[in-house]
Amino acid sequence: MDLGLAGAAVLVSGGTKGMGRAAAECFAAEGARVAVLGRTEDALSATASALTAAGAAEAVPLRADLTVREDIDAAVGTLADRWGELHVLVNAAGPVEVGIGRFDAVDDDEWEATFAIGTLSAVRTVRAALPLLRAASWARIVNVSAHSTKRQSPDIVAYTAAKAALTSLSKNLSQWLAPEGILVNTVSPGSFASEGMRTYMRTLPPERHADPDDLADVMRIIDEDFGHPAHLRRAGDPAEIGPVIAFVGSRVNTYMTGANINVDGGSDFC
Ligand SMILES: NC(=O)c1ccc[n+]([C@@H]2O[C@H](COP(=O)([O-])OP(=O)(O)OC[C@H]3O[C@@H](n4cnc5c(N)ncnc54)[C@H](OP(=O)(O)O)[C@@H]3O)[C@@H](O)[C@H]2O)c1
Repeated sequence: MDLGLAGAAVLVSGGTKGMGRAAAECFAAEGARVAVLGRTEDALSATASALTAAGAAEAVPLRADLTVREDIDAAVGTLADRWGELHVLVNAAGPVEVGIGRFDAVDDDEWEATFAIGTLSAVRTVRAALPLLRAASWARIVNVSAHSTKRQSPDIVAYTAAKAALTSLSKNLSQWLAPEGILVNTVSPGSFASEGMRTYMRTLPPERHADPDDLADVMRIIDEDFGHPAHLRRAGDPAEIGPVIAFVGSRVNTYMTGANINVDGGSDFC
């Protein structure tokens, strides 16, 4: 299927690793101009090379910390100068280092840090990008939330609350921006063996037999530690969600807005 993305201007925040990277590669394969935003120089340049090889019309690495408003404004400003328009904004970065733990173990600083990356980063990126999205002939926003918002776990209270706020923001924006033809949707991943999750697996003691390259192991650990099983009995590979994000963010998606799409191996009805 031709997603109508050739030449489209796309920004994927958190597009250098995991699910954001997988989505960026799908946009690149469709011939889009793809900017990826992250903090790490090596990951940015490796991703830009991979996107060019995958077929991107342009690949633009943007170094920025999404918890710093000035960084976001500067990164989007670069795209304003370069492209003057944006067809697709994907907010895929999320709390990785923060937000895990039970309510009585999470202090104010951690709550604030979790909401800074989990919610406020998307608020600021949408705000900065809106003039560019409005300047484009068609536009989509895709926010990557989390399935844990639907299936609560006491072990990840702050992370889940920040993601629930992001999901609410998405729905609210979808209503506000519908008259302008800007479609806004949420994609909610279940358990994925992305960089953040692999790093977590590597911190576990050997007796837990947590092989980060084994999707069944990743699923088992997530179920044991966070109570999130899935009917498919394995975690997802980021490559399995990239095409979903690309479709929802594409020109072919003309009638889906305000939706919250699960990609979770059946976790929703376990
Ligand atoms: N993995 C899962 O099982 C799972 C489940 C549900 C929801 N999610 C959500 O899905 C999204 C993608 O997760 P993932 O596991 O694929 O992530 P990941 O592999 O850990 O990658 C995270 C990306 O975000 C960037 N990033 C993180 N903090 C940033 C910051 N402060 N400023 C700029 N960039 C930042 C990272 O680049 P740098 O580190 O180089 O900055 C990287 O590109 C996240 O929103 C996550 O919360 C994940």
